[in-house]
Amino acid sequence: MKAIYQLVLSALLCLALSNAQAVDQSSDQATGQAIKKITIKLDFIPNIEDGKTTFSVCARCHLPEAWGNVDGTYPQLAGQHVNVLMKQLLDIRSGRRQSALMHPFVQQRTIGGYQELSNVVAYISTLPMNPDHGKGPWRKGSDEYSQGQKVYQQYCVSCHGKNGEGNNELAYPKLQGQNFLYLSQQLRQIKSGLRQVNQAMSAIVQGLDYEQLEKAANYASYFTVPKEDMAKSKTWRNPDFH
Ligand code: HEC
Ligand code: HEC
Repeated sequence: MKAIYQLVLSALLCLALSNAQAVDQSSDQATGQAIKKITIKLDFIPNIEDGKTTFSVCARCHLPEAWGNVDGTYPQLAGQHVNVLMKQLLDIRSGRRQSALMHPFVQQRTIGGYQELSNVVAYISTLPMNPDHGKGPWRKGSDEYSQGQKVYQQYCVSCHGKNGEGNNELAYPKLQGQNFLYLSQQLRQIKSGLRQVNQAMSAIVQGLDYEQLEKAANYASYFTVPKEDMAKSKTWRNPDFH
């Protein structure tokens, strides 16, 4: 399994990824200065064996299956698009995305450079998703579910897709299969400014209230994960680590 992954890197401080509605310039919130967007593309041939070794560091928190926790403290990484994984890793490494917990474990001195990052990302992409991820409190048929569906379809579908499939090329995260509490916690962090994200996503979140976001996250947590992307059972354990 030696696919060539095209990894979109956004290593440089304050440089955002271009997206579908790419604007040439955005502005730094602190200084108001215009910043040109630059996208760096590098082709790597990842070494999955080496990625497995690096993943043993990540598994301490994200668990050997990379399924994270239903309580939302650790996201499920399995199934996520490679470009999204890479971008988040680089953002957390540089401090652009704050995670005091994870930050020390993803530094160059701890796990290495771009080659090692692409190895671990490629390894994660081989893992099946949790067939029983954490879902929101409002089931299909309830008013809250329908309200979340309406918000999602109006405001989120253009980037995250009808079934929460995201977009690898544009580094839009897959929401499908992600633990509900993680989704809702991230939306709250984005709305409160604790997590900085691409301007279009941020503007949409600012225009909605916390209740609408919670319901949209609830709706997203019920997206169907394709069978072929999931582990056969929720008791599946990653044989590389068990
Ligand atoms: C000490 C615990 C810890 C370790 C070790 C750790 N992480 Fe994380 N990781 C986290 C937490 C907590 C978050 C969520 C951060 C937040 O709340 O914004 C996270 C988030 C992420 C995300 C963002 C996912 C998303 O959908 O937003 C990626 C990708 C990731 N980790 C990959 C890794 C990889 C790869 C490694 C190993 C090299 C690793 N992590 C090691 C705790 C950890
Ligand atoms: C213009 C495109 C766009 C729209 C519209 C959009 N998003 Fe996003 N969303 C993104 C991007 C890009 C990211 C990743 C940001 C980053 O780089 O950290 C993201 C991140 C997220 C995350 C964090 C996922 C993770 O794994 O860390 C959640 C949850 C999310 N969006 C939900 C929503 C919801 C719900 C809506 C509608 C209310 C929405 N988004 C609308 C582009 C968009």
